[in-house]
Amino acid sequence: MTQLPGSITITGRTRVIGVMADPVAHSMSPPMHNRAFAVRGLDMVYVPLHVKPKDLGAAVEAIRALNLVGVNVTIPHKVAIVPHLDTLSEHARFVGAVNTVVNRDGVLEGHNTDGAGFVRSLRKEAQFEPRGRRLLILGAGGAAQAIAVQLALEGASELIIANRTFEKAVQLAELVERAGGRARAVAFNELTAQVVAECDAVVHTTSWGMAPESDVPPIIPAEMLHADLLVCDIVYTPRETSLLRAARERGCAVLPGVGMLVEQAALAFELWTGVEAPVDAMRETLEQVLAERAEAK
Ligand code: ATR
Repeated sequence: MTQLPGSITITGRTRVIGVMADPVAHSMSPPMHNRAFAVRGLDMVYVPLHVKPKDLGAAVEAIRALNLVGVNVTIPHKVAIVPHLDTLSEHARFVGAVNTVVNRDGVLEGHNTDGAGFVRSLRKEAQFEPRGRRLLILGAGGAAQAIAVQLALEGASELIIANRTFEKAVQLAELVERAGGRARAVAFNELTAQVVAECDAVVHTTSWGMAPESDVPPIIPAEMLHADLLVCDIVYTPRETSLLRAARERGCAVLPGVGMLVEQAALAFELWTGVEAPVDAMRETLEQVLAERAEAK
């Protein structure tokens, strides 16, 4: 990729962080974090770590053995890593999934910054305060769990969970209640304009509309979207999904997925370094990587 100003120099003192995934080649985290280390003048480097599921235990042990500062963990390891860690944050414990590990002198702490990253993006970019608000969550997979639990921990008044498989919506609603929130499950085909009308925001968490299959109708009918709604999509390719386009055309405020991706990384950076993340630089790097990938297609 094109080099941005402020490239890093590796010395004998450089501390190492990585991302464990399978596959890992498409991760956008290395360029974002390496830019952030350079901007903050930290002697750290962030590398891809291709870890197969059968090797996860050994890879986690290597975090201690190699004295890594920590790692990010992504598909397919987010849930499987949990039993290998020493402690979990409150959020990670409720969700049962981890995306960030911090190595504190050999004690491995598991965190999950996805939900908090979403909420930070919600506050900063959409000026939306979730406390006391009712939100509709579309989907009930891993991303929905992280977001719904965080919204519950932050005091949302009620979450309506709509999912294609109703049983999973019920399970997520139960999880939200265990985290101290209020939630109600509905099946996708039973979602009505009346239910949407009672909500302040919609958060789409499935892969519906993601490139290359972006030329699809919005996951819920555009007629259900009223102009006072904030409509959020965690899909970030394309930047404007069919749902966000429909929402914009109906006069809704919209929040694209790229903000959550930047903010979950920024929160992980802050856990490892104790330093405020240079969010604008991280976002600039991410936008550049996304633009280069779109051009290469
Ligand atoms: P992630 O970790 O990205 O959330 P996941 O845990 O596999 O991924 O969850 C995928 C979510 O997208 C689920 O809510 C899934 O619905 P089901 O529980 O019914 O499978 C939803 N999903 C995936 N493809 C979908 C589609 N074509 N239409 C509607 N929902 C879809």
